[in-house]
Amino acid sequence: LDAATGVPGEDGVRRRDFINIAAVSFAGVGAVAVIYPLISQMAPSADVLAESTTELDVGAIEPGQAIKAVFRKQPLFVRRLTPAEINAANGVAVSELRDPASLADRTKEGHGDMLVTMGVCTHLGCVPLGAAEGENKGEYGGYFCPCHGSHYDTAGRIRKGPAPLNLVVPEYQFTSDTVIVVG
Ligand code: FES
Repeated sequence: LDAATGVPGEDGVRRRDFINIAAVSFAGVGAVAVIYPLISQMAPSADVLAESTTELDVGAIEPGQAIKAVFRKQPLFVRRLTPAEINAANGVAVSELRDPASLADRTKEGHGDMLVTMGVCTHLGCVPLGAAEGENKGEYGGYFCPCHGSHYDTAGRIRKGPAPLNLVVPEYQFTSDTVIVVG
């Protein structure tokens, strides 16, 4: 303070500014310290995600029906094929396919009617439409990708359009007659 007037001198003002700035800075650090653990809990680390599994009861899926689930943050399709769809898949010369694989290669023994694939087009990653969906214009009875027109057959194999590979069959196993664990 100025001894004569009682008003803060230049030094006093500077000191107050410093105290204000310091208080704001500490508040900022405090907020980051509180928020950071919350954010890091919300987003699972890549390691945790890579090891996560998805358990599904598929017993209620009727022939010709499919369910959509999520596996490691991506769409997953589980479809029970009809006898006609199985025949269609088996009626193709595997060696002539763009990404050769038989239906048996893509299903589990004893569960040849259950097709489990990622719901991610192998072209640029759109979500294909299933056979039961109204907008499906697929020519091979399986999945159709509306983004650039890739057609997948009833075994999820690429048959026409720009996608280079079949829909990916993730690692999975049946843990009972009706339950699968993906991952
Ligand atoms: Fe499916 Fe391009 S992303 S055809």
